[in-house]
Amino acid sequence: MEISELFRDEPPGTESRPPATALRLLTGGAVSLLTTRYRGSINVMPVAWQAPLSSAPPLVGVAIHESRFTMDLVSHAEEFALSFPTRALLHHVQYLGALSGEQLDKFEVTRLETFSPRHVTAPLVAGCAAWVECEVVQVLPVGDHQLVLGHPLAVLVDPVAFDERWRPEAPEERRPLHYLGEAHYGVLGRLLEARLPTVGDSPGSALSDQIAEDLELDRETRQRRDEERERLREEVADGQSIDLAAWESEELPPLDLRLGVVIDKPAGEGEAPG
Ligand SMILES: Cc1cc2nc3c(=O)[nH]c(=O)nc-3n(C[C@H](O)[C@H](O)[C@H](O)COP(=O)(O)O)c2cc1C
Repeated sequence: MEISELFRDEPPGTESRPPATALRLLTGGAVSLLTTRYRGSINVMPVAWQAPLSSAPPLVGVAIHESRFTMDLVSHAEEFALSFPTRALLHHVQYLGALSGEQLDKFEVTRLETFSPRHVTAPLVAGCAAWVECEVVQVLPVGDHQLVLGHPLAVLVDPVAFDERWRPEAPEERRPLHYLGEAHYGVLGRLLEARLPTVGDSPGSALSDQIAEDLELDRETRQRRDEERERLREEVADGQSIDLAAWESEELPPLDLRLGVVIDKPAGEGEAPG
């Protein structure tokens, strides 16, 4: 390929943002609640700036601002635990990030449920999708944060939420929260599987053929979903009660209540999956 072909004009519609926006662009992984304990103090704080750093040995990194009470405790305790909260803890997560354990006992204030760890001394938070216990192997200063390198000693998971990878197909209330900045969070919504060109394919055309095939599959799914939606809409218009589980299923778009028909949930039916 000609080098000049790699340096075309910026695509139309792109906008420039301040360089510090790079931090927000890299934010979005599963948020965790870091618990730590040193002598009589036990604390918990939400952490979004965490990353896998090495596979052999396995090492994770957590960037903690030097002003956090947690930083004091972690550097003395030389261990910490990460609990990955689910939707039930959404408001707790935000609140725990607005308080400092230096001033109050966050466990008492928020009545967080916890349970015993296997290796470290800090408690693990209940109502989460996974838990990682770490010993600290190094602390590196990086700007106004300290990068705490942790060696995982034990991992526990809710297998519905995680099975070798996070499972967007798990019921929403079992999926981990992803932090997007300010007071915004998300959950993963859909699994996409990438395929590689097979031997003999020209990679360029095989890749675009696969995209076309995927889009066609998406189109068929959308069409099936629209047909099902129309069928349910007719049932509602006829005054029939419908199966709310069908409306809530991942296959269908959110319930459109503009129809103005009250839909009774039949007793014992229509529970959300999971
Ligand atoms: C969702 C979320 C993620 C956060 N991630 C980090 C982080 O990665 N590193 C950090 O130093 N502070 C982070 N914070 C801010 C701290 O959690 C917050 O300052 C907290 O009050 C510190 O508590 P402490 O003083 O008890 O340690 C985050 C806050 C929220 C709400």
